[in-house]
Amino acid sequence: MDYPRGLAGVVVDQTKISSTAGAHLTYAGYPIEELSEASFEEVVFLLWNTRLPNEQELYDFRADLVSKMVLPAETIRLLLYIAKEPQHPMSILRTTTSLLGTTNDVEHDEPPKILAKMLTAIAAILRIRDNEPLIAVDPNLNVVENFLYMIKGKRPDRKLTKMFSSVMILQADHEFNASTFTARVVASTFADYYSCLTAAVSALKGPLHGGANERVFEMIEEIEKEQIDPKDFVELQLKKKRKIMGFGHRIYKNGDPRAFILEEIAAELAPETGNKQYLKIQQALAKYMLERFGLHPNVDYYTALIYHCLGLDKSVFTMIFATCRTAGWLAHIMEQRRENCLIRPNSEYVGPTNQHYLRKESEE
Ligand code: CMC
Repeated sequence: MDYPRGLAGVVVDQTKISSTAGAHLTYAGYPIEELSEASFEEVVFLLWNTRLPNEQELYDFRADLVSKMVLPAETIRLLLYIAKEPQHPMSILRTTTSLLGTTNDVEHDEPPKILAKMLTAIAAILRIRDNEPLIAVDPNLNVVENFLYMIKGKRPDRKLTKMFSSVMILQADHEFNASTFTARVVASTFADYYSCLTAAVSALKGPLHGGANERVFEMIEEIEKEQIDPKDFVELQLKKKRKIMGFGHRIYKNGDPRAFILEEIAAELAPETGNKQYLKIQQALAKYMLERFGLHPNVDYYTALIYHCLGLDKSVFTMIFATCRTAGWLAHIMEQRRENCLIRPNSEYVGPTNQHYLRKESEE
């Protein structure tokens, strides 16, 4: 039977949320290049309503989200225990997402509350792992400012907020990527929001998806530490049949539109934060990958350096990706629930046939 492995190129359903048609990324029809200048709350509203908010709606939406960035005491009590475990932060987040759906009265939690709680929980995981006290949300700050404030313990400046806001917007959604599709599969059974998100976080963890950003930084660190020529590093990895992390994409064969903007942000941050050497290595590696294999960097390539420049440890990079993507996951879960059709494909059976079970006499 002829079928596309990994569902490559298969359109499995319709969506009004985002599109990669023509290798241009748009959210509800708006090009990502223009939206990266918007506010995060505006973009979340757009993903959830497929239209931009007016001034009053935006004000109310922002205030509502910020007011909900509070975790129940029971969740904090359990988080203080879970987040200290010596597990990978994405494993902690997977458990935490599930936990958010089991503590207190969560039956009626709606997307604004769920998004707000996810962001605060991620900030709390970071603080607990760093042995730092938790920071309470500041009602005078917007969502992105609050997130940065809660992870860093100090109010962020305008420039940093603007950059991080663009990074969050660029990663907020990406039509039927692996984690979003996973969320939609679970949503198609009418399971609750937290179950869908727990599944999405699990899918994002893998190195072929969100887990790539952590591996990108490991690679850059190794090149820098060992003072290897990026070209030699690439050749050595390929000889070992390993992929070069942060390159290639199922859809974008001529470049990921997000990576172009992220490279600009990384190029601005790297010299300011004393990380010029990493940027140089990344740019040399990208040049070689393109010349030698025609492969372009994807979204995970420059976000790795951006997160490092923000002072984050590489082990939490994928969790930051989850911070950005939760809004998109929620948009898709809502759409799936509205337009639902159970996702249940077929498979081609290639195992043995004509087997017969004979009960052994001793078992009778
Ligand atoms: N390094 C080396 N070779 C590569 C790479 C890479 N990063 N990406 C693709 N190729 C080669 C691949 O070996 C294959 O060659 P051949 O046809 O000779 O076997 C060809 O390019 C096509 O690649 P593919 O793996 O069949 O393409 P795909 O659409 O199934 O995979 C991908 C896309 C993202 C899984 C793959 O490019 C990859 O593994 N990249 C590295 C991991 C990574 O950066 N993941 C992040 C993905 S984008 C953002 C996200 O989802 O988080």
